[in-house]
Amino acid sequence: MAEPTKTATLTIDDKVIELPIYSGTLGPDVLDIRKLYGQADVFTYDPGFTSTAACDSAITYIDGDKGELLHRGYPIDQLAEQSNYLEVCFLLLYGELPTGSQLKDFEQRVTRHTMVHEQMHNFFRGFRRDAPPMATMVGVVGALSAFYHDSTDIADPWQREVAAIRLIAKLPTIAAMAYKYSIGQPFVYPKNSLGYAANFLHMCFAVPCEDYVVNPILAKAMDRIMTLHADHEQNASTSTVRLAGSSGANPFACIAAGIACLWGPAHGGANQACLEMLREIGTVDRIPEYIRKAKDKDDPFRLMGFGHRVYKNFDPRAKVMKESADEVLNLLGVENNPTLQVAKELERIALEDEYFVSKKLYPNVDFYSGIILDAMGFPTSMFTPIFALSRTVGWISQWKEMISDPTGKIGRPRQLYTGSAFRDYVDVRHR
Ligand code: SDX
Repeated sequence: MAEPTKTATLTIDDKVIELPIYSGTLGPDVLDIRKLYGQADVFTYDPGFTSTAACDSAITYIDGDKGELLHRGYPIDQLAEQSNYLEVCFLLLYGELPTGSQLKDFEQRVTRHTMVHEQMHNFFRGFRRDAPPMATMVGVVGALSAFYHDSTDIADPWQREVAAIRLIAKLPTIAAMAYKYSIGQPFVYPKNSLGYAANFLHMCFAVPCEDYVVNPILAKAMDRIMTLHADHEQNASTSTVRLAGSSGANPFACIAAGIACLWGPAHGGANQACLEMLREIGTVDRIPEYIRKAKDKDDPFRLMGFGHRVYKNFDPRAKVMKESADEVLNLLGVENNPTLQVAKELERIALEDEYFVSKKLYPNVDFYSGIILDAMGFPTSMFTPIFALSRTVGWISQWKEMISDPTGKIGRPRQLYTGSAFRDYVDVRHR
């Protein structure tokens, strides 16, 4: 880390503590409190980490006020429009856009790792057919470490590299297997002749009885959805992966932990919850009732797909996703899809409502993605698995960045203790 750019002075009782302040390339400076507990015997207190930088990173930058998202400096709207998912994977992993030959080599390496060990098919058979695909994915991804011992030594840079390629390559296969298993259809093997997104669609929707030709427009839309979900700074699931990795856990276990965290409806589970909410609203005339519920402090209901810890402006991914929704539904001839109409009207009403305006609540990445995935034929139970497979490159890039830092330490937050003070044990006969 560079030298401090300035110093803050903190006075607690009779103690005066000097705290260095560091500046990054973009965004807020950071106040270095690493020595605070040793100097002042106090902890900082920030349960939701709303004002805490847990690490330094060069991968993704978000400006929540401007609604900007950069991956290694490149804005997400340019990447979504001009790049593709595997090229963005290379950018996130290695820091630069690949040359033509580098991209070709990377694509071939990923393609040749898309199959999973045949023995893993047995894992699926242990689940009930109606198991949510997210539950299957958490279990099977964690089990990858039981099959790929030759890429679990995190001290070996080559094994870290192989684990990253294996995870990016195998997550779509595992997600597709989870889907096929849930609908009682046979697994479909990856096809090396197909691109990454097309391969995923083929593994989900092909059946052995006939040829299945992937619609190139839908493959491009799926590739764009994957790109929009690739990485997002230190969100809850990425922080989970970093914390798990800080203990030295193997990369497969760390990614399984990230999948588990993403599952929550406040995070990656919001895309499924949002489509289910839009379907429950059903028609435009019922929107005011739900807006009222969302504003009612005594009602736990929240508008799913709205609001964000960082974005206090439009989520730039939501903008691209909205354009893609129009494109895909027009292509499929379902532009009058009632769910899309409800979503657009809900967005319009909310963005004019004082409650949402004052709290700076805008549509986020999860607001439109489900409409596209639904139109493609995915059940809502596959929305978060698609988010998880798309985010795997972000998780593993952040994990690699953390593991490669020689100064890294195990993450171990402290607390404000509010429990009982010391007291002696009382035998049960005297209680
Ligand atoms: C993702 O962190 C990331 O980067 C995540 C993500 C990624 O790519 O990794 O971007 C992906 O998780 C997107 C977010 C998906 N979640 C949802 O759409 C679920 C609905 N959204 C909310 O649960 C909420 O907005 C959060 C969880 C996303 C953010 O919550 P915060 O930052 O903790 O904000 P908050 O709960 O403190 O809300 C601030 C105020 C509160 O009102 P007051 O207590 O101040 O009166 O806004 C209200 C909230 O009640 N509010 C909402 C609301 N979101 C916040 N009110 C109604 N509907 C909502 N959706």
